Formats: sequence, structure tokens, C-alpha cells
Amino acid sequence: MTAPVARKIKGGAHAAVRHDSATGHVTGRAVYLDDMPNASGTLEAALVLSPHAHARIKHIDAARALAAPGVMAVVIADDVPGKNDIGPSLRGEPALAEGVVEYVGHPVAAVAARTLDEARAAAKLVDIDYEPLAPVLTIEEAIAAGQMVSAIQVVTQGDPDGALARAPRRLHGEVRCGGQDHFYLEGQIALAVPGEERDITVYSSTQHPTEVQHGVAHVLGVPFNAVTVEVRRMGGAFGGKESQATIIAAIAALAAWKTRRPVKLRLPRDDDMRATGKRHGFLIRYDVGFDDEGRILGLDMTLAANAGNIADLTPGVLIRALCHADNCYWLPNVRFRGLPCKTNTVSNTAFRGFGGPQGMLAIETVIDVVARTLGRPLEEVRRRNYYGVGRNNVTPYAQTVEDNIIERCVGELEAAVDLPRWRKDIDAFNRANKVLKKGLATVPIKFGISFNVPTLNQAGALVHVYTDGSVHLNHGGTEMGQGLFVKVAQVVAEAFQIDLDHVRVSATNTGKVPNTSPTAASSGSDINGMAALAAVEQIKERMAGVAAEHFGVPKSDIVFAENRIFAGNRSMSFAELAELSWRQRVSLSASGYYKTPKIHWDPKTNTGHPFYYFSYGAAAAEVAIDTLTGESRVLRAELVQDCGASLNPAIDLGQIEGAFVQGMGWLTVEELWWDEAGRLRTHGPSTYKIPGSRDVPPIFNVRMLKDAPNREPTVFRSKAIGEPPLMLALSVWLALRDAVASVADHKLVPALDAPATPERILAAVDDIRARAGRG
Ligand code: MTE
Ligand code: HPA
Ligand code: MOS
Repeated sequence: MTAPVARKIKGGAHAAVRHDSATGHVTGRAVYLDDMPNASGTLEAALVLSPHAHARIKHIDAARALAAPGVMAVVIADDVPGKNDIGPSLRGEPALAEGVVEYVGHPVAAVAARTLDEARAAAKLVDIDYEPLAPVLTIEEAIAAGQMVSAIQVVTQGDPDGALARAPRRLHGEVRCGGQDHFYLEGQIALAVPGEERDITVYSSTQHPTEVQHGVAHVLGVPFNAVTVEVRRMGGAFGGKESQATIIAAIAALAAWKTRRPVKLRLPRDDDMRATGKRHGFLIRYDVGFDDEGRILGLDMTLAANAGNIADLTPGVLIRALCHADNCYWLPNVRFRGLPCKTNTVSNTAFRGFGGPQGMLAIETVIDVVARTLGRPLEEVRRRNYYGVGRNNVTPYAQTVEDNIIERCVGELEAAVDLPRWRKDIDAFNRANKVLKKGLATVPIKFGISFNVPTLNQAGALVHVYTDGSVHLNHGGTEMGQGLFVKVAQVVAEAFQIDLDHVRVSATNTGKVPNTSPTAASSGSDINGMAALAAVEQIKERMAGVAAEHFGVPKSDIVFAENRIFAGNRSMSFAELAELSWRQRVSLSASGYYKTPKIHWDPKTNTGHPFYYFSYGAAAAEVAIDTLTGESRVLRAELVQDCGASLNPAIDLGQIEGAFVQGMGWLTVEELWWDEAGRLRTHGPSTYKIPGSRDVPPIFNVRMLKDAPNREPTVFRSKAIGEPPLMLALSVWLALRDAVASVADHKLVPALDAPATPERILAAVDDIRARAGRG
């Protein structure tokens, strides 16, 4: 038999097709939750937020609010029919404050009214009598008070104390990094629609529909099967809707329950920023022992995270920070201590990188300090410490690094940019300019892929083939702009060998695919793609049986290719076979399931194999600072990013560029600032600055590592991409340190924390000048 000519389908695996909603996004036709037409009788809700960082709630009087025009209900913790508990990691984390408020912005009540204006006006009329208590506002105060939201975590190997004592050189120091607001364009929002009896449908802008389902069920005291959660898309999430969306959905559901009407709760930007969690700010203290070549012999580092008022996702974030504080370096004698500090500020949560960025900032600062102290190039010190291949490759958490391509990434970057020449140009510029100073730095990255909670590494999908050959696809992942839906659809198109436009992705719904994990940890396409593939394989197997019978050939001779099914030189269209299968009473629907292999974790010892594989990258950045004003610009960024065999290079390119710029924002302009009363003063776009289009480096070259398929059998050998490139922005932070160091002829270590705002850069310049002057 002659094999069919392998012709291509449109939009299969590895095709650089555009986002399925690209046109919808720019024309406004893509429907976000708030664009859905309201059912008649829908109420709008507004939150009542605590004005105190810490206070006892003595009395709540809703009479004035209830008497206001249009108001249908006021809900407080006492109205919860079930359990006022939506904690994602630990129990005891209420949706509405109960007895005590623990941060400025803590939701205490919600008002549901006929219109949004009425709800917001009446929210001001809820009278709450507070007895203020002393707040703990900083990491230092929390450490002094021994106040933690969860257990202190330690990751260790070898003999750090002995190695430190024996090391020929030893340094200790401190560095801080700030938090970051997610600044998704679509704020937190939920619409709860009561149905028959106990049923309730909740439309939620969430990365974690199943957790919303559970949270709503807990609060209402109903079984999970009474709650259906649906999300078509989010207008950005970045981790901010992994657990925080549940708060909003649970409050909307409670108000819907009480009024028996649909209730929509959407937060104005200022409330969103005050009431919901952000990236964790960290205080890092290190004690490092090294030799004259820059080999790190011993390292003892404490990473203290500002958890805010509750645990939320802090335990996971902290462990990921500790599991990334090695970055690309083999640290045989090391102790990382993680402190989840409880403060009276909003509970911090998942944010792109999930602790990884903070852990990597810590070790990169240590490397920077060691290199500058020795007067050696960063790159040289790094090379002395890189994980080896086949040796020197066990991480502090006991996973062996088996897929090491660090030096390949760094090598491709250095080959592409001619680093020595670039460095010379920068030095020449700095000699010629007194006020403006340039800096240059590189960074390598290694990011662990998989949820660091093994259980979460599972996914489901549901695939239907209709008799016209069109395919309906559903899976547990959510779309937040990252292109997950198109990627999984590409996987299905490839597997069936049909054009992408025959595959229709549908809204994520807990009634279609149950018990899902959050779309997070960059694992969306890895796990949902594999689940979808598993579903397709079952249907294909059945369809192949029908085709084999029809053509009178063995099943093994049936080939799916180019929208057709071939048996030698005979064929029929995919649609014809779908129709025929139905006639033969063969099911054209299947659910698929996937769990990530190889991973395990022992939370008692903080060791195991938490990551299925690593994603690698390298970057170089050039910056300029104005030593009179502290202002800075990123002039050039050169990136190399490992995407495995990219499922969709167009999407991945966007992810790399977006993540890098978001990382730049974290490290430069985005500053969260709380006053002495614990009030967040940067709670809107006028005071909280995210990078704008003019902050994108004028020279910005992104390279995806070529011919680098994942060595693990992931979906079409691709790699996760959502988070890793954010950490490439550490090159910008290190370049800013380099620019500051140039003021003192690279003889001193700069004192610069993140974010490197103009104020901090100016202070670092003044400080290094003063130290240089003292000789
Ligand atoms: N890209 C866009 N456009 N919007 C987002 O909210 N979130 C990021 C990343 N890229 C995000 C994004 C985060 S935090 C994660 S974990 C991944 O996307 C999640 O999606 P994935 O697992 O499908 O990559
Ligand atoms: N990333 C994001 N969310 C998570 C993780 C993680 O590693 N672990 C648990 N929730
Ligand atoms: Mo991303 S922080 O894992 O949602």
C-alpha cells in the first residue's frame, strides 16, 4: 500500500497561529464577564472595606444602608449559612471579616442594590464600630514579634555552618525586594446566579474555577454539585486570580443567596488594589563563604516574606522561593530559611514566578556581591558555580538537575551579542560622561516546572466530535490572555489531523471537567494539552475501528492526515467518518486525563523531585541612569529563552516579551507604598506606575532556543513559558547595580534594593560616592 502524502493541516502543533481571540480583543467583541447581558433583576454589589490595619469589630449597624434607595441587602459574616472559610492552603480564612479586621481594605460587608451607584453610595452608610488594635506593619516587626502565618521552612544540604567557618572569604549582607500589584486590565469580578433549589451558577474571573466552586459551597453550606462555575476568559490574571477571585465570588454568591437574585460584584480599581493580595515583598539576609576564584563554598540565607494577614498561598510561594534561591548554581553547603511573616497588610498571593523571582534575586545579589568584592566579572564567577552535567548537579532540595542547558543558553546569548565589545562600549561611555552612567549585566535562569504541590499536577479534558466533523473542546485550564486555549486546540487539531478552525474551545466549566487545578505554575498547556490528547486518542481509536471495517483493512493501516482518513489510496473526509461512526453507534465523545509523571515531594524534609523539568534562559540588558535625578532607562535587552519545541512560537514570543517587561516593572517602577497607619497609598494608576509602551527597551531582541525539544515527553516536546522569562528581567536590575557601581569605578558594592526607583538609585549613587570619597 502506498503511504498517503504527508500534507499539512492548518494550525497544528508548533504553528505560529495567532491567539483565537486576537481580533475579539482589539475590536472589543471578545466577551468579558462584565460584557455579559444582565438577566432581569440582577443586582450590583459594593464592598465595605476596613479603614483600620488592625481592629476589633464591635458592632455593625446596616440600618442606614438598608434604608438607602435601591438597596436590597447588606451581607456580613453573620449571614454566612455555611462556613465563612475560603482558605486555599490552610483553613480558617474568611471571605468576610469576622470579629476582627486585619488590614486596611479588609472586606467587612457588601451591599447589594438595584444599581452600581446605589450600591456604592449605600456602602458608605454601613456603620461599623471598631476598637483599634496595634498593627504590625513590617517584616522586621513581624520577625521581632515571632508572628508567622504558617510554619518556617528550611531547605538545606551539606554542612553550611562548617563550610562558612572554613571559607577563606566571608561576607554578609541584606537586600530587599518589593511586592507588585497584578494590574490586570479587568479587575476582580463575579456574577452569581441562583437557580432551582440550592443550585447556583457563578461566573467568575478566576484562574481556579474549582476553588471558587469549593469556596462558594463552603460559604453557602451546600455540596459541591450545587455550584457550577464558568469562566470564558479573564482580562489578565498573572496569579492575582488564583485565590483572590474566590473572595469576590463567595461574597457575590452570599448576596445572591440572601436576595435570591443574580448579584454582580466588580471592584473599582482602588478597592481592587487595596482589598486583594499582591506579590510578596521580601527581606533577604545572607552569609556567604567563598574562595578567591568566587566559588561559593557555604551559604546561609534567610528569605523573609511579607505574607500579609493570612497564609493564603504563602506556604507554596515561600517553598518555591527556597527552591529557586539556587538558580543555576550548585551549592553543596547551603541553608535557606523561609519566614512567612504575618503583618497587618493585605494577604499576598501568587504572582507570575510565585516566589521564584524573589529567590533568584537573592542568589543573584549574592553572586553580584561576591564578583564585585573579588573584582571579577559576574559571568566568570557564575561559570565557577554552575550546575554541572552528570556531576555537581544536586539541588538543595535533593532533585538532580538532569536537563541542564544553562551554559548552552548563556553561550548562545554571548555569541549573539559580543559581550566583550558591548562592555567596552559601556566603559567608554562612562569615561566620557559624568552625569549619565551606563550599566550592563547578564543573567541566567533556571525555573522549575510543575506545581510544587504534587497533587495539583493533574488535568482533565472533554472532547466531542460532532457528525459534521467539527470538534468541541473543553478542559480544566482557563484563558487569561496567555493563549492556552489556542495551544490546546492546536494539540487537538494536530492529533486529529484536522484544520484548527474545526476545533472550537469552550468556556471552562466545573460541570464539564471537574476537580481541576488552577491554571498556574505555567503548566496550563503541559497538563491540559496532554489531557486533551488523551481524550482525542480514545476517539481516534474508535473512529479508526469504524474506518478499518468500512475499508476492510486492519486498524493499523488507518491513517489520519490532512482532514481525511486514509486506508492506502482510498480515503474519506474526517466529517464523513464522524457521520459514519455515529451511524455505527460508536461514541464520539471522551474525557481525557493526565497526571505529571516523576514528581514527588516530602514536606517534612523539603526534599524530593518537585519539578518535572526545568526551563532555562539567559538575558543581557543595558541601562542608563541619570546620577543627578536617579532616573533610569533600559536601552537594550537581548534574550535567549528555552521553549522546548514551542507549541506556538507567536504566542510564546508574546509571553517572553510580556513577562520580561512585567519583570522590569517589578524591579524598577512599580512601588507599593504603605503609610505609617498601614494604608496603601499607591492604589491606582496615578500613583502606582506600571511600565508603559515607552519603557519597552528600544533595542529588544528575543531569541527562542532552536532545536531544543524537551527531553521529557511533554505535549509535542514543548516547554512551559508563562513565567520563566519574567526572571530574565533580573538582568535589568543587575545592570542598574552595575551603573551605580561605575560611579565608584567598580571598586565598591552598590547598596540598591528593588524596585530601583529614581529615589533608590539616587540614594545608592550618593551612598557609593560617599564611600568612595572616604577611600
Ligand atoms: N499572560 C497573559 N497575557 N495574562 C496573564 O494573566 N499569567 C501568567 C502567564 N502569562 C498571564 C500570562 C501566569 S502567572 C501564569 S502561571 C501562566 O501565564 C498561566 O498560564 P499557562 O500555564 O497556560 O502558561
Ligand atoms: N505555582 C502557582 N500556583 C501554585 C503553585 C505553584 O508552584 N503551587 C501551588 N499553587
Ligand atoms: Mo501564575 S503566579 O502560577 O498564576
